[in-house]
Amino acid sequence: MAYVRRDARTLTAAEKRRFVKALLELKRRGEYDEFVRTHIQYFPSDGERGLRSAHMAPSFLPWHRRFLLELERALRRVDSSVTVPYWDWTRDRTPTSVPWTADLLGGDGRRSDRQVTTGPFAYREGHWTIKVGVTDEPFLTRDLGRSRHPIDLPTKSELEWALKDPVYDVAPWDSTVTRGFRNKLEGWGTGRGGTSWRNHNRVHRWVGGEMLGGASVNDPVFWLHHAFIDLQWQRWQRRHRGARYLPATPPGRDDEQYDRVVARHQRLPPWDVTPDELEDVGRIYRYG
Ligand code: CU
Ligand code: CU
Repeated sequence: MAYVRRDARTLTAAEKRRFVKALLELKRRGEYDEFVRTHIQYFPSDGERGLRSAHMAPSFLPWHRRFLLELERALRRVDSSVTVPYWDWTRDRTPTSVPWTADLLGGDGRRSDRQVTTGPFAYREGHWTIKVGVTDEPFLTRDLGRSRHPIDLPTKSELEWALKDPVYDVAPWDSTVTRGFRNKLEGWGTGRGGTSWRNHNRVHRWVGGEMLGGASVNDPVFWLHHAFIDLQWQRWQRRHRGARYLPATPPGRDDEQYDRVVARHQRLPPWDVTPDELEDVGRIYRYG
């Protein structure tokens, strides 16, 4: 039977407690920091050489789908009742709404050093020391809404703009494409400042702190955000029946994207799985 991933706003007090407790247990065992390491390792951008599997590429969605499944499996080995909840940022849009409550992820960073001081992941609680990161700070940081250069979370209609595109992705399959569902959702835009980050990327920017870079997994909101992104892929598939992951076949030798993107039936590193095999996960989980 498929298990259910729920909207974070619908979790009971006990469900929140169990989710948090399982995360803290993975952290205590050192398993959590392995997830941070993996994400940092797969963070290089399309300006660099080599295969892109996680970001600025068609496999952005299957890569994060598989990554979430790994985390969820680890959580469920700790507590089999736990699933990853999602944060619907089109509805919960303020620094005090879900999931920023003291019984779930805690709140904004304080003004002086952006350190998160409330909730279970606050440094002073002693259970969430940042060990694998891009800075030396041992504490979790956030700057919800970007206090110095405020931006808003993406709206329902901005998300809709991505969902209504009937094509999964287009050549050259990178961060510069202006058509295709994948990049409209991943959110690499043209221009500068606030308008250059859309949907998925804008949310990382809005949260700030740890969520800005390759070590974003250090903030547990990473999973709630990516579960909501994963749900959008499912919504897009339902809306555009028959539309599939692209490219269906690898770019040829004389193509600039040769060996740089993962085609539908190619292996998606670091796992032994293809995008094709990740397009339908209905037997594993569903969104409630
Ligand atoms: Cu990522
Ligand atoms: Cu992300």
